[in-house]
Amino acid sequence: MLHNRRILLGITGSIAAYKSALLARELQRRGAHVRVVMTRAATEFITPLTLATLTGHRVYSDFTENKDQGLWTNHVDLGLWADVFLIAPATAQTLSSMIAGAGDNFLLAVHLSSRCPVVVAPAMDLDMYQHPATQENLAMLKSREVSVIEPESGPLASGLDGKGRMAEPEAIADWLESWFAERAPLHGHHVLVTAGPTHEPIDAVRFIGNRSSGKMGYALAEAFATAGAAVHLITGPTQLTAPANVHEIVEVQTAQEMFNETMARFEKIDIAVAAAAVADARPVDAADHKLHKDQLPGAISLEATPDILAAMGAQKTPTQFIVGFALETDDGLRSAQSKLERKKADLIILNTTADAGAGFGTDTNKITILEKSGKTHNFELKSKAEVAKDIVETVLNTLQS
Ligand code: CTP
Repeated sequence: MLHNRRILLGITGSIAAYKSALLARELQRRGAHVRVVMTRAATEFITPLTLATLTGHRVYSDFTENKDQGLWTNHVDLGLWADVFLIAPATAQTLSSMIAGAGDNFLLAVHLSSRCPVVVAPAMDLDMYQHPATQENLAMLKSREVSVIEPESGPLASGLDGKGRMAEPEAIADWLESWFAERAPLHGHHVLVTAGPTHEPIDAVRFIGNRSSGKMGYALAEAFATAGAAVHLITGPTQLTAPANVHEIVEVQTAQEMFNETMARFEKIDIAVAAAAVADARPVDAADHKLHKDQLPGAISLEATPDILAAMGAQKTPTQFIVGFALETDDGLRSAQSKLERKKADLIILNTTADAGAGFGTDTNKITILEKSGKTHNFELKSKAEVAKDIVETVLNTLQS
């Protein structure tokens, strides 16, 4: 769930600040993009250089970058960039300044201007933590929808033993994973994606296939996983590496296998996306050994493969949502509309090889989405990862409406 998340890590002046270096590393190890904001007090415990080296980005702690040249740091931009502002460690002083709405250091100004959710991981001595002022501050922060990662109990820097230690970096990262998962729009939903080509055997070494790379389907699997879904990827043969965070990947060769694996799961699926370029026909008699040159038939008899999207359309319940693709060589709007109706899909994604950069094998795509209502949405040429996000967003919007 942390893959590609943008986490703004705020560090304040506590001895626990040394753990923030490990936390930054752990978040990045799990795929997050991390930027760091530190208070002046935090820089007494750990140097900005350490955090800048670990994250590969400059650390922010001042309003101005170069006073002589009048260069200032834009605290608003940082708050807009982040998916979450995680203040870890958060001292008692910072918690109370957040309550007061203070903006007298850079980190507090970022807090006031950030539009993303804010999470704090308090760190302090046990008596400071138990003090009614701190407890009331935490309760008030919670009422303002700031989430709190509870401190742990154990030996404290003061020599005392009790609750107040900042949660360990691994525990904070785990907490964030669940937090993102629960807030993800498709949390608890099962999404099935078919991807890639299928290979229909002529004999033991030859097959009928097509030029599909699988890139669009894999990008979709990843985008749906990022939206919190448990993704079942049913894929034909590709050269691609497995997309991140998908629930299961089932590798198949033929249309029949793709059909079988898809339909075996379809009952529990909430959203299905047929992105595979399924071969429409297969040889009637495939030899189970290699045919020698002189044994090759003059013609190959073909029979139709099962239509997976149409089978899902025929079987779907009112709560299931299915999306198909239409790859056309001309503008194809009419053909795409007819596929939408024939296969009882809820949406059809039209892409046409007439558009440069769209279709098979490319890293980009240009799509038009057709709704059952007849509404169409046109998109610019984009990377397949961006196209996948547009498709997920359109599915979510259509489901909501
Ligand atoms: N599809 C499928 N099973 C098949 C053929 C197609 O699930 N056996 C799905 C594709 O994954 C795609 C949609 O149906 O989502 C449309 O595929 P396309 O090949 O464009 O349509 P066809 O029905 O094969 O029509 P035609 O080849 O005549 O354009």
